[in-house]
Amino acid sequence: MTQSTHNLVDTMLNDFDIAAIRRDFPILNQQINGHPLVYLDNAASSQKPVQVIDAVDQYYRLDNANVHRGVHRLSQRATDAYEGARSKIRGFLNAKSDKEIIFVRGATEAINLVAQSFVRPQLQAGDEILISYLEHHANIVPWQMVCEQTGATLKIIPMTESGELNLSGLDELLTDKTKIMAVGQVSNALGTVNPVKQMTEKAKAKGIPVLIDGAQAVPHMQVDVQELDCDFYVFSGHKMFAPTGIGALYGKQALLEAMPPWQGGGDMILSVSFDHTEYNALPYKFEAGTPHIGGAVGLGAAIDYMQSIGIEKIAAYEHALLELATDKLSAIDGVRIVGTAEHKASVLSFLIEDVHPHDVGTIFDQQGVAIRAGHHCAQPIMQYYGIAATARASFAFYNTEQEIDALVKAIHTTQELFA
Ligand code: ALA
Repeated sequence: MTQSTHNLVDTMLNDFDIAAIRRDFPILNQQINGHPLVYLDNAASSQKPVQVIDAVDQYYRLDNANVHRGVHRLSQRATDAYEGARSKIRGFLNAKSDKEIIFVRGATEAINLVAQSFVRPQLQAGDEILISYLEHHANIVPWQMVCEQTGATLKIIPMTESGELNLSGLDELLTDKTKIMAVGQVSNALGTVNPVKQMTEKAKAKGIPVLIDGAQAVPHMQVDVQELDCDFYVFSGHKMFAPTGIGALYGKQALLEAMPPWQGGGDMILSVSFDHTEYNALPYKFEAGTPHIGGAVGLGAAIDYMQSIGIEKIAAYEHALLELATDKLSAIDGVRIVGTAEHKASVLSFLIEDVHPHDVGTIFDQQGVAIRAGHHCAQPIMQYYGIAATARASFAFYNTEQEIDALVKAIHTTQELFA
């Protein structure tokens, strides 16, 4: 980092009322193995602010009932809370209509829904699905399954040593057989921010639909699905300060209208007889069964919370943290950063010479530092580098400069133990 970048990072870090933010996350204020908890496993799951915890608590204390079914007051309030959360997601993603927002369990379920309901009915043997080397298993396996079911082929956009996508051959990979391009916006294993807007433009120019996996993007940056012009966008609530088991699928209305339902059951129908079932309108057509209402309420509260801080401000602060951490780890002998893309968000994957990442994770835990060690559900990336695993620190806006120092100290302690 140059001196001027250093100054910029300092300004960013000082500009943020981190003490106030940390008071919103009571879980952070605890000791682990006699050390203050340093939570750096945000890419796996984020912590929840009191605003989210209280919203869920209040929902169950005051409003809990089933949605869309009852004429009684509680059911109406539950329905308002659930549909209110949908509108917040619409605003958060800048979708055109609430009808374009489908509640799902998370990004994984959303991708499976699109694979089975949108892509599978169009696929014939020999057709192609294009994904990238940098995908999480959730954006690989559903496509492999649909390929097995239809005889279609999975094509892969290659990656480079720095952990970026090599897009020089993208035009050739987008063929008249490509039925969808499905790419992650941010790599969960390396933190690479992919140029999804430019990639989408290329695919759309050839009439190829695009799905963007935003699971690792929405906690860290402003997303605008109209600006991206993607056909589908998926994310999970639990990585953006909301409860587990809730997430959203955004889909362009015309596409969702044309797609058959994925799961059958209550709420996704208008009428049922043994001869014929008429399906419900959007978005309910894709929401069979009683949904995770409390989770949706929590997700709505998480969006309010992030917006109250300002997503641009969150992005700038986290970027400053990541730059600082990258700088400090790069300066340690025997530490190798895996994934050195120019544009990154939140994630710092690394190796300590002669120490297995799982041992790194265990020794860090003894010092109160929570990171993830493993393949991060992205085994092809590990295969590319010829490694089994990395240690991964991932930041959220409640992390601090002092916590980066704790990370550095944990690395030194680990190195001393293995010296
Ligand atoms: N996808 C989560 C991670 O990256 C579980 O850790």
